[in-house]
Amino acid sequence: MAPGLIDPQPAVAPDSQRTLASVTGDYYDTITFYLNGTRVSLDTADPEITLLEYLRGIGLTGTKLGCAEGGCGACTVVVSQYNPTSKQIYHASVNACLAPLVSVDGKHVITVEGIGNVKSPHPAQERIAKGNGSQCGFCTPGIVMSLYALLRNNEHPSELEVEEAFDGNLCRCTG
Ligand code: FES
Repeated sequence: MAPGLIDPQPAVAPDSQRTLASVTGDYYDTITFYLNGTRVSLDTADPEITLLEYLRGIGLTGTKLGCAEGGCGACTVVVSQYNPTSKQIYHASVNACLAPLVSVDGKHVITVEGIGNVKSPHPAQERIAKGNGSQCGFCTPGIVMSLYALLRNNEHPSELEVEEAFDGNLCRCTG
């Protein structure tokens, strides 16, 4: 090695070095969120698990696994959170296959099971059912949730806004 290239002084002054504990002391390792209106607290959330894996793992299988790469929308759920700028709650349609579980800390996750059921369907579910709007049904929960997010943010969307809300939802029966 060429002489003079090694600086005898450490790159970080010893008095500015901190222990790992002092750096992470202000952080917490519990995530808390609401799931279909129920408060959930997880102490041991795996940072690598997706929201979709978690939901299906606890039995909420209405949210489907299709492509697993954000392309089909079968896994769409709604994640709601307060926007301090607009001072309103924003409801986002989210591909649960891409969202890490830990990303929903402090938010409200709504799945297709949380908006209605056969006896008491949400209007979006009812219209699709009565209008024969699904064939195999695999993509339908994702489509319902995209529509649900749109209607929560805007009760009177235009036709174009409805069409745009379905941009990320594919139906493999009809192409
Ligand atoms: S499974 Fe296809 S977008 Fe998530």
